[in-house]
Amino acid sequence: MLIDKNNLPLVAEDFMNDVHYEDVDIINELHSKAVIFKENTTEENKQELIACYEKWYDHTVKHFKGEEAVMLERRFPPYMMHKGEHDRCLEHMAYVLNSFKSSSDIDALLNYLETDLLNWLLNHIQTMDTVTANFFKTGMSPCSAMH
Ligand SMILES: [Fe+2]
Ligand SMILES: [Fe+2]
Repeated sequence: MLIDKNNLPLVAEDFMNDVHYEDVDIINELHSKAVIFKENTTEENKQELIACYEKWYDHTVKHFKGEEAVMLERRFPPYMMHKGEHDRCLEHMAYVLNSFKSSSDIDALLNYLETDLLNWLLNHIQTMDTVTANFFKTGMSPCSAMH
């Protein structure tokens, strides 16, 4: 297991926490499939890993769109900043998947999941998602809170 759900930072909106828990389940499944492929490099294991990665990508598109839809609806001022982080994350995810498809370099994929992705996810939840959820809950934007 790569991420322990008990250590996942919570935000003020449960609809966001629920999606983050689903995300963690898929990431843990993906990580275990990556470890299996590293130990047993078969075409079948590679295809299972790719299918799981694609399931994670699709879930992440929905995860981010779900947050962005509420940000737009509630006119969240730093919408573009938050969406920018989402877009860069999706680009990185797609890049790693495409690289793996052609190279089968499992160490690069594992390194991405265990370092870049893990750091990104925890940091994103603790900063952007936390501030955004507080805004949804209280109507206070980080900008108006400073004045
Ligand atoms: Fe999120
Ligand atoms: Fe987010």
